[in-house]
Amino acid sequence: MKAGEAISRSELPLPLVARGKVRDIYAVGADRLLLVATDRLSAFDVVLPQPIPDKGAVLTQLSAWWLKHLEDITPHHLISADPDEIAAQVPELRDAAGWQRRSMLARRAAVVPIECVVRGYLSGSAWHEYRTEGTLAGEPLPAGLRESERLDPPIFSPATKAETGHDENISFGQMEAAVGAELAAELRRRSLAIYERGRALAEQVGIILADTKFEFGQLPNGSLILIDEVLTPDSSRFWPKDRYAVGRGQPSLDKQPVRDHLEALVQQGKWNKEPPAPDLTPEVVEATSLRYRDAFRRLTGHELDAFPTLDAAGPPRATTW
Ligand SMILES: Nc1ncnc2c1ncn2[C@@H]1O[C@H](COP(=O)(O)OP(=O)(O)OP(=O)(O)O)[C@@H](O)[C@H]1O
Ligand SMILES: [Mg+2]
Repeated sequence: MKAGEAISRSELPLPLVARGKVRDIYAVGADRLLLVATDRLSAFDVVLPQPIPDKGAVLTQLSAWWLKHLEDITPHHLISADPDEIAAQVPELRDAAGWQRRSMLARRAAVVPIECVVRGYLSGSAWHEYRTEGTLAGEPLPAGLRESERLDPPIFSPATKAETGHDENISFGQMEAAVGAELAAELRRRSLAIYERGRALAEQVGIILADTKFEFGQLPNGSLILIDEVLTPDSSRFWPKDRYAVGRGQPSLDKQPVRDHLEALVQQGKWNKEPPAPDLTPEVVEATSLRYRDAFRRLTGHELDAFPTLDAAGPPRATTW
């Protein structure tokens, strides 16, 4: 495999724990994980046949960058996203290919079974709930809000982590019943703090972070840490600020070329939105890759290729801490 080649699936000489929709997860000893972000892309809840070049590296390096900027708010799982450092700590990977830059070495945690969703704009399933019930996460909202309207303050709207199928939105009371009042309050507090930091930072570079999802886990000593990916286009809705207008759905900063392509096929009667997904054209693949890299560059101020060895704000190895 060539360096930098897009991959849909990794095969590494480590014990495989699971393959998620996007990540392949391997065990590193008893207490660490290698989280490998492949270049798989899903849209309309189906995984597309073509991988998107650089998508996995963007997700991993962007998460690493955010985690560094969130350390004063929450401890997290990342040990390193720097290939040299990972190879030094995981000798099995020294002769393996295809994992560099797309992988995080992380502390393994017991996952809290709640999707910690924060919404700063009214969209998606929240817009649907509001339109039909007048509520969000079971709590009433003021009347007269429009689609994509900004929510101040942002709202914590948890969901269950479904093993299969769709996550289900739950009320804060249901979350308290599931994990206990104390943990629920702490998850809400941290999630809102992280989102507020992220929303403000993204807005400065022309990205509206409409909503996002965090996951947390517990270490054997009981401490609560932020895990998984953080504030990426996959875990969040990224909208281009210069195209924003209330009262309608918004274009997606990353997946719009894919969505437009698929919608056109549906219009032409060539696809019914059920798996298997149709092929993407090379132009759509390239346009999508460009958008992921653009989001990365806008947020971090670095080209993906020049990262992580350059970081004006931090130590030379910016993703190792
Ligand atoms: N530090 C960690 N310890 C234990 N599990 C983790 C840690 N970080 C992430 N995970 C888990 O690894 C998986 C990441 O894989 P992936 O993102 O492909 O998952 P997915 O949730 O199945 O798919 P999607 O995010 O597309 O819904 C998630 O199940 C997440 O809960
Ligand atoms: Mg995930």
